[in-house]
Amino acid sequence: MMDWTDRHCRYLHRLLSAHTLLYTEMVTAAALVRGGALHLLAFSPQEHPVALQLGGSDPAELARAAKLGAQAGYDEINLNVGCPSDRVQSGAFGAVLMQQPGLVADCVAAMQDAVAVPVTVKCRIGVDDQTPEEVLPEFLARIVAAGCERLIIHARKAWLQGLSPKENRDIPPLDYDLVMQMKGLFPNLHISINGGITTLEQAAAFLEAGLDGVMIGRAAYHDPAAVLCRADPVIFGRGEASTAEQAAEAMLPYIEAHLAEGGKLGQVTRHMLGLFNGRPGARLWRRTLSEGAHLPGAGPELVEQALRAVPAVDGLRDTG
Ligand SMILES: Cc1cc2nc3c(=O)[nH]c(=O)nc-3n(C[C@H](O)[C@H](O)[C@H](O)COP(=O)(O)O)c2cc1C
Repeated sequence: MMDWTDRHCRYLHRLLSAHTLLYTEMVTAAALVRGGALHLLAFSPQEHPVALQLGGSDPAELARAAKLGAQAGYDEINLNVGCPSDRVQSGAFGAVLMQQPGLVADCVAAMQDAVAVPVTVKCRIGVDDQTPEEVLPEFLARIVAAGCERLIIHARKAWLQGLSPKENRDIPPLDYDLVMQMKGLFPNLHISINGGITTLEQAAAFLEAGLDGVMIGRAAYHDPAAVLCRADPVIFGRGEASTAEQAAEAMLPYIEAHLAEGGKLGQVTRHMLGLFNGRPGARLWRRTLSEGAHLPGAGPELVEQALRAVPAVDGLRDTG
């Protein structure tokens, strides 16, 4: 999620769940290929399995960017066909590509030719005055024919005029049924659903109903422990539940290494603020980190100090 997530966030989330697939925020193919911004590809080996999301609409440039991503070690390359921001629209990629399934198919085919890892797509159900029941199956058929075997559907339209990106994540109504129908039409396509899903129980219900995956964005960022601590046993049926405390402690050496490389404490701790949401001490934890992280000399001790604000609990809290 642009401006929110980064490699530090993914490192934290990986400590909470070993098996959840993590995605980068969108990186534009132009930044990598024309801008040479290869630092955008850096990640820690612990983040695997991790997918790189690319933005672009030039098949040759996307192919080159996909190759750079695969060479950097990403497990999947995903194409963004869902972002409605003006900046992205003016670059003629993101959600506007819902209107150009042929071009998306060309992009997917070129990317697929360039890399051995899976090339996937994240799309909307339609844009503007499109009729999702008509355009979505056609869109899927085109990208499947181009070699796409996995996709994520954000189950709402994007309105390209008149709504901000934030409003476009809340105002167009969700249509989960349509995504379910797509699974019926394309039984061999690996389909993940996204949009408005906030609990593991909801996610498990979608899997039970026949979908192949569930992507959780905002809830996982704001309340990472509630979404991720039980994901391994509940969703993947392997591994044990983690705890927020274990993850916070395991971040200490990571933070130390980040500071030793000249990084700032707040760059990491900003992703940890919601770790204890809903638990006694959560407010003091947040305050200790947000007020202290920017002070000169602040280091991992601040996280240890903040941890002392959180009373130990037996077992895990009820995330009901
Ligand atoms: C701050 C922010 C940045 C986002 N950036 C991206 C992005 O880079 N790529 C993308 O595919 N979706 C992006 N999204 C959309 C989310 O991935 C997701 O599709 C959307 O929030 C709906 O899912 P949710 O209700 O689980 O959050 C972003 C969302 C937010 C809140």
